[in-house]
Amino acid sequence: MTKAIYAQVIKEKTNGSLTMDAVIDLIEKPKFKEQGDLAFPCFALAKTMRKAPQKIAQELAVKIEHPLFEKVVADGPYVNCFLDKQTVSKQIVDAVLTAGSAYGSRSFGEGCSIAIDFSSPNIAKPFSMGHLRSTVIGNSLARIAEKCGYSAIRINYLGDWGTQFGKLIVAYQLWGSEEKVKEAPIKELLALYVKFHKEAEKDPGLNEAGRLWFKKLEEGNEEAQELWKWFRDESLQEFSKIYELLGVDFDSTAGEAFYNDKMENVLDLLNDQNLLAPSQGAEVVDLTEYRMPPLLAKKSDGATLYATRDLAAALYRQEQYRFSKAWYVVGYEQTLHFQQLFLVLQKMGFKWAQEMVHIPFGFVLKNGKKMSTRKGEVVLLEEVLAEAIRLAEKNITKKNPSLANKQEVAENVAVGAVIFHDLKNDRQNNVEFSLEDMLKFEGTTGPYVQYTHARACSILRKSAKEIGTESSRGLADEASWPVAKLLMEFPVVIEKSFHENEPSAIAKYVIELAQEFNKYYAQVKILADDGEQESRLALVKAVTVVLAEGLRLLGIKAPDEM
Ligand code: ARG
Repeated sequence: MTKAIYAQVIKEKTNGSLTMDAVIDLIEKPKFKEQGDLAFPCFALAKTMRKAPQKIAQELAVKIEHPLFEKVVADGPYVNCFLDKQTVSKQIVDAVLTAGSAYGSRSFGEGCSIAIDFSSPNIAKPFSMGHLRSTVIGNSLARIAEKCGYSAIRINYLGDWGTQFGKLIVAYQLWGSEEKVKEAPIKELLALYVKFHKEAEKDPGLNEAGRLWFKKLEEGNEEAQELWKWFRDESLQEFSKIYELLGVDFDSTAGEAFYNDKMENVLDLLNDQNLLAPSQGAEVVDLTEYRMPPLLAKKSDGATLYATRDLAAALYRQEQYRFSKAWYVVGYEQTLHFQQLFLVLQKMGFKWAQEMVHIPFGFVLKNGKKMSTRKGEVVLLEEVLAEAIRLAEKNITKKNPSLANKQEVAENVAVGAVIFHDLKNDRQNNVEFSLEDMLKFEGTTGPYVQYTHARACSILRKSAKEIGTESSRGLADEASWPVAKLLMEFPVVIEKSFHENEPSAIAKYVIELAQEFNKYYAQVKILADDGEQESRLALVKAVTVVLAEGLRLLGIKAPDEM
């Protein structure tokens, strides 16, 4: 990294008055490109050296020399460094082409694992936009973690337990039909659930029946178990269609029900440590010391709760996977739940609980308003994806009617559009859902990045040259320089996206790289038959590698042709 090299030289030439880290932190990007590539401000040195920063800059500038630097000049209180474009661009392009898709990999996570709890939809209910966000963000975070050397354990913690299943069983017994459920499981089960709530308003006895059937289910009643299992299987089958389309898979789908027989243990542990307190017949873990409401561990009727199951799941995962970090990609609404969960684990004395993080995200809006499942405003994700594919296919047919594998590419583009739209803004922001916007081939969209990648691939195809590490002699021109410099940034961006749990850092980066590349492409005749053609092609190839890898980290495919 040129920044580290610059810092090293500065540190040497200032007799070590600042640490290496301090120098690195101080180095900035100059405001204008006429001011060079790296700027070192001398204010911090002025204090220790008791000299005007302008003077220090002048003295320092003349002392700095390095084969990677074209020139180093004082500019007021700054020491500005101009990198040697030819040498540096060759180094970067070679590094990218040598590493291939491994370019940008970090090793700080090696030997450690991260358990990532994401997607986690509730069975017998539609896969919501919130769950889509969790799925897309979690999948990308898993890939980013792996890129940093960690092993990622992908956990789909299905919402497959709770009193609602008692209600659903009652509703099915009263009004359900096997055929209808088989035909469209989620739609039918949702309808039954909605009908139950409507009827229960008139007939409160239904709620009692629901509670009874949930109790039966918890006690292992065969009929209840069979129905529950069937609802679960049908739901999973529906969900798996979505996962397949999105290219997401899991290491575990152990949901809430999996922890039924592991609850006693948790309650015992809490009891042994005197952490359980009675409260109106229920048992709670007091959290007043943290100014938080208590965590409800056991209801008055003996039933366990969401929070208890999450405690059991955390213990199980630590034992099973020995995770060094645990991430929960779940919407904002559950912030308090996770705060309580982590604090209780800490109270129980588990050091590893300090490495647990709730990773929240904003809402999906339609016309500026939150979408609500209850009022029938559900957007069925499968239908949305199907519509996106149809639109993508239309676009592609217009742009490239003779494309061979149109259907596959349309799928890649549609899914890429949906994912990119979700990941391009800071995850805490809300997302306005608009198929039309996300599928545009211009602007900050997935298809724009994919299209840029395909266009770069097509230049390489047209050249019919074998491009490798030996091809580049470096480029010294102004037009290619911003592209080369961005390629150099990629590893830094990956680290940032990891530490901030922000796939958006990568999304923004690939947009910038695509934009710079398109500017370059518009300015320069890449295939002109001069001495630099192969160096230009090597740069183009490096761009394809980094765009494809950046997209992969987001969970998006990069077709070679579009
Ligand atoms: N199924 C839950 C919901 O849809 C999300 C589960 C999140 N993960 C967890 N460990 N609590 O609200």
